[in-house]
Amino acid sequence: MTDPDDLRARVAGELQRARARSALLTDAVGDDDLTRQHSRLMSPLVWDLAHIGNQEEQWLLRRAGGCSPVRADIDDLYDAFRHPRADRPALPLLGPAEARGYVREVRDRVLDALDVMSFDGPPLVTGAFVFGMIVQHEQQHDETMLATHQLRSGPPVLSAPPPPAGSPVTGEVFVQGGQFTMGTDAEPWALDNERPAHVVDVDSFFIDAAPVTNAGYEAFIADGGYDTERWWTPDGWAHRQRAGLSGPMHWGPDGTYTRFGRTAERVPDEPVVHVSWHEASAYAAWAGKRLPSEAEWEKAARWDPATGRSRRYPWGDDEPSPQHANLGQRHLSPAPAGAYPAGSSPLGVHQLIGDVWEWTSSVFTGYPGFRAFPYREYSEVFFGPEYRVLRGGSFGTDASACRGTFRNWDYPIRRQIFAGFRCARDA
Ligand code: AVJ
Ligand code: FE
Repeated sequence: MTDPDDLRARVAGELQRARARSALLTDAVGDDDLTRQHSRLMSPLVWDLAHIGNQEEQWLLRRAGGCSPVRADIDDLYDAFRHPRADRPALPLLGPAEARGYVREVRDRVLDALDVMSFDGPPLVTGAFVFGMIVQHEQQHDETMLATHQLRSGPPVLSAPPPPAGSPVTGEVFVQGGQFTMGTDAEPWALDNERPAHVVDVDSFFIDAAPVTNAGYEAFIADGGYDTERWWTPDGWAHRQRAGLSGPMHWGPDGTYTRFGRTAERVPDEPVVHVSWHEASAYAAWAGKRLPSEAEWEKAARWDPATGRSRRYPWGDDEPSPQHANLGQRHLSPAPAGAYPAGSSPLGVHQLIGDVWEWTSSVFTGYPGFRAFPYREYSEVFFGPEYRVLRGGSFGTDASACRGTFRNWDYPIRRQIFAGFRCARDA
């Protein structure tokens, strides 16, 4: 059992780290940029900021802390289910200064409540779960705001050192068929859709040792991949035609891409990013392979063949460090294949965590025995055939919102997220 004061300090540290990132992303631009909509797919940054504070108010102050509301009048404005993203700029939102004042006030009160909080009691506070949930919520919106920055036009405002150099990682890894434990009961901050732990039997398969790179993806394009219907699913082909797709989002002519306002020559051995599920599955078909299922991905990431146990991460149970994975917006791009040898799995699968979210073939559903907690709108309302699961996190995902069991989801046409993929095939 963790000492409650240690847990309190850890929670305060994680809340502070998330807030520093939110501040960096919102202080990087002027008020006009904060209130404008940079893409119909995204909220104005100032909506994300006040929504972060409103969720924190609802869950940490009112529910966990039993405190009276700070601004109950704005719950509706920041309810993602009431207002689609495209409609948010027209709402009477808090302005930049008001939003900053609001999140500061909520946070000050949360820290006061945290001082006297007990972590054993109702399931919401056990192990400080609700604090972990809100830390992850803020970090997830920070990744969304980073994606908004990528869609914004104008001079660059973000900078970071380049990622470490790569070393050749190619080919596939064989994963022996059989049972493994998927999902978790043990991670205190795992979200409802990662639970419960359950045994899954997976047939033997091969999985790529590294994500598909820009060079690999360029070969698909050069071979006419975007003009060859047979590589695409019927929905994928219809979408490719309708949307006029010819390559990943943000790729320019002459081998360039534009990242956070800077145009540069593409790095050949960097994982490809900003591709839709449809593009990923077309590539896989062209390569004579397929996308891994979610269970295959998790077995490759967590299963230790020596013990048969499922680990928290590919490298073991230790929290991610900068040697393990490219996470947390430390760099503003994926790292080249082979850049994180210390983060590889026992079987030698690299970069499962960090760099790019990886599309899987699986639709988003609840595990056997799933129970919505603490609210149906986090996961359950999204279960169904229209969403595909992504795994592993990206360079823009914080470590607190990334682990071997973490599940993300999006529509198969989406590519503004930091999504790439790797391939698999039957053994
Ligand atoms: C898990 C990333 C799909 O951004 O829609 C944020 C996370 N849930 N606020 C999203 C989330 C509520 C969610 N994703
Ligand atoms: Fe949210």
